Amino acid sequence: MTEKDEKLVSAAAEVRLRAHAPYSNFMVGAAVEADDGTIYTGCNVESASYGLTVCAERVAIWKGISRGEKHFTKIAVVVDTEDLTPPCGVCRQIIWEFCGDVPVILANLEGKSETIMMSELLPRAFDSKFLK
Ligand code: THU
Repeated sequence: MTEKDEKLVSAAAEVRLRAHAPYSNFMVGAAVEADDGTIYTGCNVESASYGLTVCAERVAIWKGISRGEKHFTKIAVVVDTEDLTPPCGVCRQIIWEFCGDVPVILANLEGKSETIMMSELLPRAFDSKFLK
């Protein structure tokens, strides 16, 4: 892993500790890198009305968008699982729309990691090009 990737994974691991996950106890941290290198982080935030829960990946992307970013080049997701946890289906759609075919770094707390391209996680994706 490059030094830059390590920085992204560390940012995701750090924000994971702020996950609000009292119902699932499944803490997730995500970090996205914007075009200019700025890193935006997010953790999952659960609701007592379970369906309103928002995943870490979307919190990180919404944070960047709300700061004026238009596009991101890489995302890291950190979960404390032996088998590396990939983004859920909803997040795959959002990552595709705001990042495109970017590398997704999956990592756990034991230093295990794997990088997968978004096109592998979400083949034949739906996006705005079909709306034109
Ligand atoms: N979760 C994420 O934050 N990201 C994912 O991609 C998978 C699921 C969260 C949502 C919920 O708070 C908890 O993990 C269990 O599903």
